[in-house]
Amino acid sequence: MSHLRARISGIASAVPPDAVTNEDMRSFMETDPKWVLQRTGIRQRYWAREDAEVTTAGLGAEASRLAIERAGIRRDELDMIIFATLSPDAVYPGSGCFLQEHLGIEGIPAFDLRQQCAGFLYGLSMADLYVRAGQCRHVLLVGSEIQSKALDKSTRGRDVTVLFGDGAGAAVISAVEVQDADPRTSKESFLISHHLHADGKYATELMHRSPGTMNRIWNPDELVGAKESYPQMNGRLVFNHAVRRMPEVTLEALEANGLAPSDVDLFVLHQANKRINDKFAKAVGVEDEKVFSTIETYGNTTAATIPIGLDEARKQGRLERGMLVASAAFGAGFTWAASLYRW
Ligand code: UT7
Repeated sequence: MSHLRARISGIASAVPPDAVTNEDMRSFMETDPKWVLQRTGIRQRYWAREDAEVTTAGLGAEASRLAIERAGIRRDELDMIIFATLSPDAVYPGSGCFLQEHLGIEGIPAFDLRQQCAGFLYGLSMADLYVRAGQCRHVLLVGSEIQSKALDKSTRGRDVTVLFGDGAGAAVISAVEVQDADPRTSKESFLISHHLHADGKYATELMHRSPGTMNRIWNPDELVGAKESYPQMNGRLVFNHAVRRMPEVTLEALEANGLAPSDVDLFVLHQANKRINDKFAKAVGVEDEKVFSTIETYGNTTAATIPIGLDEARKQGRLERGMLVASAAFGAGFTWAASLYRW
């Protein structure tokens, strides 16, 4: 008997052409390149030109075109677009609609998710449900960010600004009939399960407040250029929660499926700090080599991080069909999630 499941049928990524090294950042703020490398593992990140033509949906479209091609489908076979970002093209409409226009597809639903670093995994769970419910055969899931345009590039903002990069990743999630749907024995390619969490008590610990209705008016003059008009983060608190929640939700996902950390072939995690990856490996009890890292080259690309990681792992020959992959993410909200899938 076969079972209807969803799988990642195509994956691709795109970044702007220019890499900004830790050293380059000294031209606009007081920053210590060694501090950044030692405390975060980041050597460089990609930043888009400060140009109105370069948009989050545009970058997402670049990755999407390739992902669609790799999935072996035509654009008009897509049934839905899910777009995860914290750096949208405009306050509204959602970047999914802008992406749709870039791709020249009409009529299918397009919506945005605002779960920041956990956005791609929240989106993956939704794509999986739509496919398994028989409502969609192919869903385009995009995580894309141009964060550089929103960062405080003065010394005041250095603790946040050095961490974030621009980039996009796109995945096509397609229906598949699998013969063996048991996650413990199957070697077929399919999404197994997703585990999502949020805790709004910490909503203000990592946020970009203005523009927004937390202000007297949407975008008050007195906040333009003030620190509230840039992303703010309580770095240590976020770090302490990330190193607890990411292992916890990964173990929750494994346990729910009767699997152990040693069964996982590759962990493709959100990338916020190399020290978080290292602590994750220790907490879950796996070798560092199993935790795939992209932080050195890309920095933290928020919703784009996991699909960029998957595409990078594919390019490096670290992913083969049938491998058991675990992804986990933690970020603003706080929101966190894990997904398990056979690649
Ligand atoms: O994806 C969303 C989730 N985000 C995260 O998970 C990020 C989690 N947090 C972190 O990764 C770390 O907390 C940070 C990398 C943000 C900070 O690392 P830390 O080791 O916790 O540093 P700290 O906050 O304790 O700051 C240490 C010092 C401060 O100086 P003082 O106040 O001790 O004199 C900072 O001003 O490091 C200073 N500092 C810098 N120094 C040189 C901050 N940024 C820089 C910089 N260059 N760029």
